[in-house]
Amino acid sequence: MVDPAAFVDEQVDAIAEAVGDARAVIALSGGVDSSTAAALAYEAIGDRLTPVYVDTGLMRKGETDAVRETFDYVDSLHIVDARDRFLDALAGVTDPEEKRHAIGEQFIREFESVAREVDARFLVQGTIYPDRIESEGTIKSHHNVGGLPEVVDFEGIVEPMADLYKDEVREVARELDLGSVVSERMPFPGPGLAVRVLGEVTEEKLAVAREATHVVEEELAEYDPWQALAAVLGKATGVKGDNRVHGWVVAVRSVESRDGMTARAQEIDWETLQRIQSRITGQHDDVARVVYDVTHKPPATIEYE
Ligand code: XMP
Repeated sequence: MVDPAAFVDEQVDAIAEAVGDARAVIALSGGVDSSTAAALAYEAIGDRLTPVYVDTGLMRKGETDAVRETFDYVDSLHIVDARDRFLDALAGVTDPEEKRHAIGEQFIREFESVAREVDARFLVQGTIYPDRIESEGTIKSHHNVGGLPEVVDFEGIVEPMADLYKDEVREVARELDLGSVVSERMPFPGPGLAVRVLGEVTEEKLAVAREATHVVEEELAEYDPWQALAAVLGKATGVKGDNRVHGWVVAVRSVESRDGMTARAQEIDWETLQRIQSRITGQHDDVARVVYDVTHKPPATIEYE
């Protein structure tokens, strides 16, 4: 475990040295990793830092408004509405690795575009150790590492937390007084809901995954999971009223973990599961089934793709 205070001093100096007197953009998602990286970078280079939040359309319910509110005091915050561009980039893409690459590439193009506007030469990212390990190995390309395109129009990418695990990032966030809403927040993957809908990403599937994830996060908060989520698996037969429906199958997943590298499916009581089922099927006429995922990591991963 790192000493958070020493880590902050070290990384603030390292960022200042890497960026020199140039400008940088920081990829902000509202999560603990990018918010912590932003706070470090802000201490290092002050208003030569431009935070960029990309609304990919793949975010959690209410995320864009929450980010707008949380960072309201940051005049330089750029919120980019890239929803159509991400959907276009993902049209027809069904392979999970190809999806991650399409998303990684689109993110970089959005950051490059703001960087040109504000004359920034560096990109700061909140990449953490497990993102790198999973991307370097054969597990999956995290959008911000293995998902990056080969040619990137930045002089450098700065990743102050590239050697930290999530629990260490939370300690650094507490050291920086980022507030518990940020430091204790449930992880959410950069590629967002795209890795929670199997196969092609469509607005219809995203809407189901977004609302269902919201229900699951809310209902399972009392279990204090590392992560709780919902995913859209495919279609199956069901019956609503007097009619046969061919509706979505939604998987509910809730896991305990220390660092995200391994995880255990949580035991959830029947009543809670039934309440989740009834809220999700009630919300969407076109959801036919809700199932609970009992698989640990390994052999599964936490996300579905
Ligand atoms: P998996 O699905 O690999 O997830 O068991 C482990 C942890 O990493 C998160 N995750 C990501 N985070 N970019 C990220 O920033 C990604 O591409 C990505 N993929 C997975 C996941 O939510 C979990 O916390």
